[in-house]
Amino acid sequence: MRASCTVLAALAIMAPIVNAAPAVSFWGKDRCQKCIDATPYTGSLMTAHDLKKPQNSASSGTGKFLHITDIHIDELYLVGSDPANTQCHRVNSTAPNNNVAGKYGTLGSICDTPQTLMDATFTWMQNNARDVDFIIYTGDSARHDRDKQVPRQNTPNATLAEHKMVADKIASTFDMTKTTYIPTWGNNDQLVYNKMNGTYDPVIASLTTILAPFNLGLDSSPSWKKGGYFSYEVKPGLVVLSLNSMLLFSSNTLTKDCSDPTSAGLEMLSWANDTLTSLQAAGKKAYVMQHVPPTSAAGAALYYPGCQTQYVNLIGSHAKTIISSFFGHTNNDYVSFIYTNNTEAPANGPFFLSTITNTPPTLDFTKNCVLHVMSQGPSIIPSNNPAVRVYSYSNQGASLGALLGYVQYWSDLVKDNTNDAVDYAVEYHTYSAYGLFNLAPFSWAKVFAGWAKNATNFQAYVRYQNVLGN
Ligand SMILES: *[C@@H]1O[C@H](CO)[C@@H](O)[C@H](O)[C@H]1NC(C)=O
Ligand SMILES: *[C@@H]1O[C@H](CO)[C@@H](O)[C@H](O)[C@H]1NC(C)=O
Ligand SMILES: *[C@@H]1O[C@H](CO)[C@@H](O)[C@H](O)[C@H]1NC(C)=O
Ligand SMILES: *[C@@H]1O[C@H](CO)[C@@H](O)[C@H](O)[C@H]1NC(C)=O
Ligand SMILES: *[C@@H]1O[C@H](CO)[C@@H](O)[C@H](O)[C@H]1NC(C)=O
Ligand SMILES: *[C@@H]1O[C@H](CO)[C@@H](O)[C@H](O)[C@H]1NC(C)=O
Repeated sequence: MRASCTVLAALAIMAPIVNAAPAVSFWGKDRCQKCIDATPYTGSLMTAHDLKKPQNSASSGTGKFLHITDIHIDELYLVGSDPANTQCHRVNSTAPNNNVAGKYGTLGSICDTPQTLMDATFTWMQNNARDVDFIIYTGDSARHDRDKQVPRQNTPNATLAEHKMVADKIASTFDMTKTTYIPTWGNNDQLVYNKMNGTYDPVIASLTTILAPFNLGLDSSPSWKKGGYFSYEVKPGLVVLSLNSMLLFSSNTLTKDCSDPTSAGLEMLSWANDTLTSLQAAGKKAYVMQHVPPTSAAGAALYYPGCQTQYVNLIGSHAKTIISSFFGHTNNDYVSFIYTNNTEAPANGPFFLSTITNTPPTLDFTKNCVLHVMSQGPSIIPSNNPAVRVYSYSNQGASLGALLGYVQYWSDLVKDNTNDAVDYAVEYHTYSAYGLFNLAPFSWAKVFAGWAKNATNFQAYVRYQNVLGN
């Protein structure tokens, strides 16, 4: 009995390309059932047929959305400049060998994104993903403020100009009468790097104007105007919570830990708690998005300790309502999960957070319930190769919001610079890469259990973490 979860996991890994059976008979009625009941999945399952047909049509009950992150547009980027000493802003006259900044960006450098790469990426999306229902953009439009010769702080409107460049690009690429754009803040998106006031930071008012064309109702949203977070119903019954991670992030010295009753982070989490409680009462579902994830790729906590604990409790206690969550910031591709060791009454917690790093998970998945899986999307800024994700989700009926899978598209930047053309292609599909029939927590749990059992199966995940870089 005890081993049954893991046995099922192994089956899924060994035989991914089969037509999936209905959910319940596939999972079986075993001791994992209470874990499944804690976050029931009613959506359809991914099949080999879907893989050949990535352009899902609305008639099949599925739609698509994009997750993109960390554009970091740099209007000062200079081709043939010195990445190591000038962040790709100036030519090095004394050391000409340093002048290797590529036309489309410089892989693995600390340089930001040239206009050429941003343009090529949006052209690809226009040609291949224009039919998405909505876009989750997890922030960081502005360039880094690392170059002491051209400090952003001397020209505060540089940040706003970069926000405007990204907003204009979205508006000209997608049909905004059909596609909803849901943005959030990165930690470079304020007037001063990593600094956002807990309430009424002046950058919020500027962004309200820049984002006005997207009709998100921000100018009449008290939570947005005060704290920079909001919710938006992307489909009747499916609501995206765009949180402001700057209010939780321990590097933001203008805010306090959530253990302080006056902290803006606590106020935001209370707002999220109330919002999610209302959604649950109304039978609605939620996606949660923000820039900074709770943990780095190495599993280190990125929020203030009290905020970290409260965040985990928030997601855990609303795991039935929140289908998934999406982050940016670290430029890496990885997943984290919320789980409980209470297999009898999973909804009651206690809740824990774990990140799948570059070593296989060690948790005993037969004695714990995975309640929620959060995904860290890869960036456009070429710290690693640039990549974007196209998710398939159930867009109607009782299964509204259920995630079937995603296709990650990447471009090999070294090759792009050599060939003088950015060429996005499929990097992997969650179905063929991991044997995931859907992205329900229990399905992921079976994959995690497979990785815990046999590290060979884990190697693909490690390769994807850096978007096929080194
Ligand atoms: C040029 O490169 C040399 C050697 O890496 C470095 O020491 C120097 O600071 C660079 N010059 C400029 C202007 O960045
Ligand atoms: C900077 O932006 C603000 C708000 O958009 C505007 O009022 C101001 O005139 C701008 N300043 C400059 C120097 O462009
Ligand atoms: C943050 O906001 C508070 C209250 O509005 C204000 O007193 C404070 O000066 C602001 N701090 C900064 C650094 O903008
Ligand atoms: C959410 O709000 C409810 C009702 O006020 C409260 O009992 C619960 O502890 C809150 N949960 C979190 C995670 O803050
Ligand atoms: C779950 O974890 C908590 C906190 O570590 C512990 O007190 C409790 O005994 C555990 N419960 C089970 C069923 O293992
Ligand atoms: C681990 O998985 C690989 C590939 O799926 C397989 O070849 C190998 O035999 C497995 N090892 C063990 C110990 O099960």
